Amino acid sequence: MDSLLIKGGVPLQGEVTISGAKNAVLPIMAAALLTDEPCEIRRVPRLSDVEFMGRILTSLGAKVEFTGDSVKIHAAKITDAGDYDLIRKMRGSICIMGPLLARLHRARVSLPGGCVIGSRPIDLHLKGFRGLGARISIEGGYVCARAPKLCGADLFLGGRAGPTVLGTTNVMMAAALAEGVTTIDSAACEPEVVDAAKFLNSMGARVSGAGSPTITIAGVKKLHGADHEVIPDRIEAATFAIAAAVTHGEIKLLGARPDHLHAVLDKLWEAGIKVERNGTALTVKRGGRLKPVDITTQPYAGFPTDVQAQMMVLMTLTPGLSIITERIFESRFMHVSELARLGADIAIEGPSAIVKGGRPLSGAPVMASDLRASAALVLAGLAAKGSTQVNRVYHLDRGYENIDGKLRKLGARIERIDET
Ligand code: EPZ
Repeated sequence: MDSLLIKGGVPLQGEVTISGAKNAVLPIMAAALLTDEPCEIRRVPRLSDVEFMGRILTSLGAKVEFTGDSVKIHAAKITDAGDYDLIRKMRGSICIMGPLLARLHRARVSLPGGCVIGSRPIDLHLKGFRGLGARISIEGGYVCARAPKLCGADLFLGGRAGPTVLGTTNVMMAAALAEGVTTIDSAACEPEVVDAAKFLNSMGARVSGAGSPTITIAGVKKLHGADHEVIPDRIEAATFAIAAAVTHGEIKLLGARPDHLHAVLDKLWEAGIKVERNGTALTVKRGGRLKPVDITTQPYAGFPTDVQAQMMVLMTLTPGLSIITERIFESRFMHVSELARLGADIAIEGPSAIVKGGRPLSGAPVMASDLRASAALVLAGLAAKGSTQVNRVYHLDRGYENIDGKLRKLGARIERIDET
């Protein structure tokens, strides 16, 4: 099991190329199951989650070939049930259910458990499939869905915390081959949903309204192969933007989509960080004095929950009080106790973290608990005096392509230690 050893205090300088978006490529790889023709997906980040999805599609019978930053998927002949253990281990794999149900009219997928950030039920996904006419049962740890045929319907997919991202995409994929028209109300508006809809339409689907709270899908009989380049990863871009801010550095983010980052850039600006746009490049640098800002995570286009932990690190370095409220996941403050090891002063009050900022951080050994918490610990290590060792970085490798290599190119003193 690897860990990262970071010697902090170096202002990061230079350019970094933003990789393809993990949360776009996973459902798009699953969507290739909707056709028996070959598909090619480009700008695919080499992440453990992506490798995992490749193994899951292979266990369903698809041919999967990774070459450089692209993957060819040919699901000529597939079965309805993939490798139980593989699927159980990665929550994102739930998005194979919609395509299997649409193509085979049955699907058996291991029930995804909760994770450290929350219980993460899939009731809204199942509500959507039932609305299209599927019968759902839980048998032996599997969610089983069967439907002699899928029929278009008017669906409302809003839940306790608002829309569901993967639920919207999963049901959209099922509806693509249903008879008749489906509308999804309270749909998620995330750029990753829009990218999945774009891929579906390039396969011959008829999806409109993606990016708005109402998506309409006119079902078609058959879909064909397609070629698609996924969007850049807005969460990776936000993480590197905050890396520039916490290290007094200046980083040019190449290939980022500023239009996907409004809420994050607005809060960085409010905190006193300089952001310059130049086409698809964004340059982020420390401006004058840092100012405390309050943040509440919301569905897109609000402030993303996947950047909450990273932004908290910046607030620990900012003199004054800031309140960070997590509204999407019920237990996404696992990084707080680890940041306290580095000297941060943060108190939890219900869904909010009250950050008393301004005290310099000092290096210590810390433990990563989930993907974005581990990114926050790396940022804290880069800003801290002395050495920080971040353990269990397998969490990081799930969602950041070669992060230590990219940071080293920007001048960071960071090395990967193989603990086995
Ligand atoms: C996606 O997860 C992302 N993952 C998450 O990123 C991201 O945090 C999340 O969207 C929110 O933006 C992928 O795309 C692979 P949701 P998803 O369904 O779709 C509740 C990362 O760090 N809910 O939008 O699983 C749920 O419990 C990961 O890259 C239900 O109640 O999230 C949560 O509170 C972490 N019932 C809220 O809705 C359901 O059926 C939003 O979850 C589904 C969700």
